[in-house]
Amino acid sequence: MSQEKRHIEKDHSKKKKLSGKDSNPDHSNDTHSGSLTTGCNRRDFVKKLALGGAGLGLFTQTGIEKSWAVQPKRSGNFRFVHLTDSHVRRGRKGDEGYMRCVEHVKALSPKPDFALMGGDGPFDGLYTEKDEFDDQIDLYKSISDDLGMPWYHCMGNHDVLGWNSRRKVPVDDPDIGKTMIMNKLGMDKSYFSFNKFGWHFVVLDCIHEVDADHGPSYIAKIGEEQLDWLRFDLAAHANMPVVAITHIAAFSHLGQINQDPDMPSMHGRVIQNTRDLRWVLERHGNVRALLQGHTHINEDFKYNDIWYVTSQSVSAAWWGGNWIGFKPGYNVFDVNEDKLTWHRRTFEWEHHLEEEDDLERERIAEQEAFEEEQEYLRRKELAKAAEKSE
Ligand SMILES: [Fe+2]
Repeated sequence: MSQEKRHIEKDHSKKKKLSGKDSNPDHSNDTHSGSLTTGCNRRDFVKKLALGGAGLGLFTQTGIEKSWAVQPKRSGNFRFVHLTDSHVRRGRKGDEGYMRCVEHVKALSPKPDFALMGGDGPFDGLYTEKDEFDDQIDLYKSISDDLGMPWYHCMGNHDVLGWNSRRKVPVDDPDIGKTMIMNKLGMDKSYFSFNKFGWHFVVLDCIHEVDADHGPSYIAKIGEEQLDWLRFDLAAHANMPVVAITHIAAFSHLGQINQDPDMPSMHGRVIQNTRDLRWVLERHGNVRALLQGHTHINEDFKYNDIWYVTSQSVSAAWWGGNWIGFKPGYNVFDVNEDKLTWHRRTFEWEHHLEEEDDLERERIAEQEAFEEEQEYLRRKELAKAAEKSE
């Protein structure tokens, strides 16, 4: 436990540090998509073994029997959305921004069947006054209900009350931690799973409580008990394709993206036991994707046939403008037969800064200057190329 006694949150400084010319903005709307099918791999594997006389009673190199010949059951094509980091608040008109997002989702055609909320739904409980956080959760819930479809909340670091040195509640407050948001959203457990249209969905909770010097805090980790639950839950649904969701990513490349050697990836931006989680996710061969949030940027990475997809955030820079080029947005996932595809969507939102938001003004100006420079260089390079080809 002593290793886990550390201060984790430095979100404000993090945001400043992430801004700048080393980012990789992408302003395109609906232009990025990808797809994943893993059925072939399994079928190919079965075929190879069958040809080798192994039949369908399969044993892997680790000696664990698998029934990979079982095809996933499904009962129709469907669509869902991944809405993460909405950080709903009255400040900066974030509640109106979230309403805009909900309207955008409702206008999708075909309409999604349900929504996975990736965490950090309300603005913040770590260091916000309790009354204000209470109001933010109410806003998050009531506006989310306006989606008119089932939605499932995944725990984010800002969804917990007071697990931070800047807490505004006493350490013995009965609502400290996850109790408040879980009670208000009607959640029995902070991690759970459910089935939809023949697919299995697993909602993970990576906000792991630790005892810090200042009091209760958290690290990004899937705890032992949860991992134990997960491996048996996946085993019980081994004949179904699975999509899992976590708030803090298992994989993130922010350090590389920002070319920042002082931004080691293992410092609160990814979960600390990604390898342990990965082994559990990989074991039954049925997990197709892990949806991730927290960094407010869009990236994806595939490893051992599992797709780790981070969605840009609903709030962008906590409703203070775009976040290193990423507009407020979300990802849409379509399941067609055995194929999972996704694409990103953004919605128009003019930011409304508060008087004290000087840092945000500075960050926005810096980003605009970067974009102008990019455009200048693009035109110059094109002109040079045209000159050469003449
Ligand atoms: Fe967030």
